Amino acid sequence: MNETGRVKIFDTTLRDGEQAPGINLNREEKLRIAGQLAKMKVDVIEAGFPAASPGDFDAVKQVADAVKGPVIAGLARTRREDIRAAAEAVKGASRGRIHTFIATSPIHMEYKLKMTPDQVVNEVREAVTYARSLIDDVEFSAEDASRSDVPFLAEVFRTAADCGAMTLNIPDTVGYAVPEEFYAFVKAIIEATNRPHVTWSVHCHDDLGMAAANSLAAVRAGARQVECTVNGLGERAGNASLEEVVMSLRTRKDSYGCETGLDTTRLWGVSSLVSRMTGFPVPPNKAVVGANAFAHEAGIHQHGVLSNRATYEIMNPEDVGAGGSRLVLGKHSGKHAFRQRVEEMGFSLPEEKLADAMAIFKDLCDRKEIVTSDDLEAMINSEILAAAESRKIALRTFLVQVGEGHGTATITLDDDGREATDAAAGNGPVDAAYRAISRIVGFEPELEDYSIRSVTEDTDAIGEARVVLGMGGIQVTGRGASTDVIEASIRAYIDGINRLFRMAALKGVRLYGKNAG
Ligand code: KIV
Ligand code: ZN
Repeated sequence: MNETGRVKIFDTTLRDGEQAPGINLNREEKLRIAGQLAKMKVDVIEAGFPAASPGDFDAVKQVADAVKGPVIAGLARTRREDIRAAAEAVKGASRGRIHTFIATSPIHMEYKLKMTPDQVVNEVREAVTYARSLIDDVEFSAEDASRSDVPFLAEVFRTAADCGAMTLNIPDTVGYAVPEEFYAFVKAIIEATNRPHVTWSVHCHDDLGMAAANSLAAVRAGARQVECTVNGLGERAGNASLEEVVMSLRTRKDSYGCETGLDTTRLWGVSSLVSRMTGFPVPPNKAVVGANAFAHEAGIHQHGVLSNRATYEIMNPEDVGAGGSRLVLGKHSGKHAFRQRVEEMGFSLPEEKLADAMAIFKDLCDRKEIVTSDDLEAMINSEILAAAESRKIALRTFLVQVGEGHGTATITLDDDGREATDAAAGNGPVDAAYRAISRIVGFEPELEDYSIRSVTEDTDAIGEARVVLGMGGIQVTGRGASTDVIEASIRAYIDGINRLFRMAALKGVRLYGKNAG
């Protein structure tokens, strides 16, 4: 990829995003978000508007002092005091930037600024010259550029470039642009300004839901910096969403011929962090980072994804840091996804039982808004497996002793209402306990997998053990939880054996001996 194909990502979550009504990030929150943005390798972090308040000044300063990697920018109107505050706030950054702006549209100049176009040009000249006397890296934005006249805007941009601004930003401040028109507009401005050494930037708002599309149209027209925010936060309807712009450039590199320097696997984590810190939830259907972005419920889609996920997914969930594709079971689901989920839960039902389970499940979906995995498991246990007459064991007591490199265990079970005790030695206490249980039940399944993890974080952490047992062509998963890891392991084994009993009864398989069927 040559130099011209590299698009810089200018993140303004902490400035424009924070301007969204209802968002107020404190210094610590800004620092945490900025740290994650830096790890994700955004090119520029606009940390705030230092002249807006002492708190904003302080937050920009903290980010500039602490967060290394990206350029740290501070926003400033063309006023000298704003520019001074921005310069002061970003002073500690290894690479600081002053981002100064003034409006250039007829309506803003007349009603907001009460300035003539000539006065605006003079203001730009003075502001950029002053900013450049304080710092090397100056960006100039023409607010409401998309509603400004091309020849006038080009004159403003030429002035800014000639006074030393190296980045020229074309904002669609009010989200009025449409992609085809914005493409032509950006191209016309770049040509009319005729300053090939500058980096062209865009900053699009989402009032008509086209901020990302307009930003991408501008990239096609020659923009090489896109200003955007995590989760599309920002004034009114927000800004172009960072994750949408970045993943569009990546997924459709064949079309745009451009790339960013971002570590996209961090998108999901940064999006959740920003959502938590701002209190603005991510809608489930949000592109790229919504909970449903890689979830499939319709049976036809699920079948397609199970055969080859590219049938319905244009991005790999892992590439954006999402856990993986999720097949959501609901009334639209088909039998392939249903079977996969049931197998993931450790059941391997014969075809006719699977069909029975699916019929009961669909009926449940009609009656209950959300059917969880727990509902599904309870349903299979009570409606399908309980019908199969099978032996059942339960733990009564256990006693283990641990020696160096070995262990012994004495286990007492309730075996179909009858008490049964046996003891065994093994490589460790868990191995010994499993052998003792096997002696009582009369067979020893293959332990195909064993894991234990902590499910709570306190000192009394609950451990959850998981075993995968195989026997007679049946594979089951057993789980057990306890604050004692040995007890959790014993319970998981007993759970697995009970599942083996039920599955064997369903399938008419006899369990006996070691790994026999
Ligand atoms: O929307 C806008 O025009 C802005 C500028 C300050 C870049 O946020
Ligand atoms: Zn904006």
